[in-house]
Amino acid sequence: MDILLERKSVRKYTSEDVKQEDLEYILHAAMSAPTARNTRHCSFLVIKDKETHKKIAEVHQAAQMILQTPLAILVVGDQNTAYGGYLPQDCAAATENMLLAATAKGYGSVWCGIYSNEERAKAIEKLFYLPENIKAFSLVVIGKPADKNPPRNRWQPEKIKYETWK
Ligand SMILES: Cc1cc2nc3c(=O)[nH]c(=O)nc-3n(C[C@H](O)[C@H](O)[C@H](O)COP(=O)(O)O)c2cc1C
Repeated sequence: MDILLERKSVRKYTSEDVKQEDLEYILHAAMSAPTARNTRHCSFLVIKDKETHKKIAEVHQAAQMILQTPLAILVVGDQNTAYGGYLPQDCAAATENMLLAATAKGYGSVWCGIYSNEERAKAIEKLFYLPENIKAFSLVVIGKPADKNPPRNRWQPEKIKYETWK
């Protein structure tokens, strides 16, 4: 299976659990992502509690699929230790690694955005008691897909230019 081309956003899940060893693989992948100046400031909050999932769904309209899954992981970055303005790029690299690792282990996943939505970010940061310097970046929802839709082909040769824009 080519996980890079297989990955897609999954928004319908079964209630099947994510195995602990697979969760650790996904977190290991997240921690293996590059960070500017190797600051490795990203942290990962593993959220399994269904009551907490409900609270997230109340403040994140586009993360309703969390109500179906056993697992979500909040990706956060530390503003005090991230290099320059690279906190979001570093957290994005970790987030994408998690999606790919989940795909590799046979799970579906979806990246739910937080960072650029001030109201949403504030609500999530409050919900998890994040200190001022710890910024909520994304919520990765993971579980077994409820259907077996094949991934779409995203190849767009017209998006490629060689050497210059001309
Ligand atoms: C920064 C970012 C924020 C996103 N936020 C959400 C979200 O809040 N809820 C959601 O269902 N999908 C979200 N997505 C997933 C995109 O909608 C999805 O990647 C896009 O539609 C392409 O589909 P694919 O992932 O199946 O290729 C987000 C993706 C990115 C990169």
